[in-house]
Amino acid sequence: MSTTLRRAVAEDAQTLSALGARTFTETFAHLYPPEDLAAFLAYAYGLERTQRDLADPDKASWILEKDGTAIGYALAGPCDLPHPDVQADHGELKRIYVLKDHQGGGNGSRLLNTVLDWLEKDGPRPLWIGVWSENFGAQRLYGRMGFTKVGEYFFPVGQVRDLEFILRRG
Ligand SMILES: CC(C)(COP(=O)(O)OP(=O)(O)OC[C@H]1O[C@@H](n2cnc3c(N)ncnc32)[C@H](O)[C@@H]1OP(=O)(O)O)[C@@H](O)C(=O)NCCC(=O)NCCS
Repeated sequence: MSTTLRRAVAEDAQTLSALGARTFTETFAHLYPPEDLAAFLAYAYGLERTQRDLADPDKASWILEKDGTAIGYALAGPCDLPHPDVQADHGELKRIYVLKDHQGGGNGSRLLNTVLDWLEKDGPRPLWIGVWSENFGAQRLYGRMGFTKVGEYFFPVGQVRDLEFILRRG
């Protein structure tokens, strides 16, 4: 069976919420005390927030499925990163995650290209991404797509503050 990529719809909320929590845990759980991780997962990947994102006409989510099972997703929309040059009409890749067992085979690039095309469907414009300062793999991927570092900020996960890089293209 093949791997398919499609826009997510309201009925995907439960799947996206669960996959979001699972992929964040797979990638970053080792960085945080369990109580900070649990609080963050409930807030950032809860069903309610996922439903709100799916209902927002300015945002879009995608699901990557293999044999009918979700293995990756992405979320994009207006940029709300804390940088003085961000303007209301700028776009942002907010999340992109592929389950560990399915990484490294082009799935992430496929997702990313689809998101970037959607963000620029009405023409080129400044695009932004926030990425953990030590996520070197993702930074390489974004660098290949033309993103460069223009700032930094601290992202709260429970009581922990992560240093995030702010990347921009265009
Ligand atoms: C980033 C990610 C979506 C890329 O998906 P993928 O299917 O591995 O991507 P592709 O196979 O198309 O491309 C591979 C590129 O992704 C990056 N990459 C590979 N493994 C990665 C990992 N574990 N974490 C982050 N980036 C990774 C590298 O740039 C790699 O290219 P390289 O090997 O030439 O350096 C995926 O690795 C992932 O979900 N990582 C964990 C979550 C994450 O870091 N998300 C980004 C948060 S800002």
